[in-house]
Amino acid sequence: MDALDDPFAAAERELSAAPLGEVADAVLVDMHAEATSEKKAMGYFCDGRASLVVGSHQHVPTADAMILPQGTAFQTDAGMCGDYNSVIGMEVDEPLRRFTTRIRSGRFETASGPATLCGVFVETGADGLATRIEPIRMGGQLAASVPTPE
Ligand SMILES: [Fe+2]
Repeated sequence: MDALDDPFAAAERELSAAPLGEVADAVLVDMHAEATSEKKAMGYFCDGRASLVVGSHQHVPTADAMILPQGTAFQTDAGMCGDYNSVIGMEVDEPLRRFTTRIRSGRFETASGPATLCGVFVETGADGLATRIEPIRMGGQLAASVPTPE
């Protein structure tokens, strides 16, 4: 993580500008990053001050949906919406060729098979903190996870 572009300082600035339960009814933080450790750390950094911290970028949904101790819903990565019969959403041939030969021979093409919709479902209380989080996975290749009304 580049100290000159510190996402924790940016999160602190925005959380302070619109406090949850005072100015904002809900605060959603999308941590677009590679490292799971950085995303989990951001979850704890925002815990009690955001309704949800959810990661993106990895293209694969993680199995760690939870509510952190101070009431922030968290999942390390929501996963992509797209065709999982692919290499992170791209047709397999070109990425596989590049990994095995280090030779580029074409453009990445978007995989066009049946898509899976991925995301998270969160309910909040009057204070804006989470009371429930469940992963959403619908359609395509992945095992379904569809939140039901309580
Ligand atoms: Fe990305």
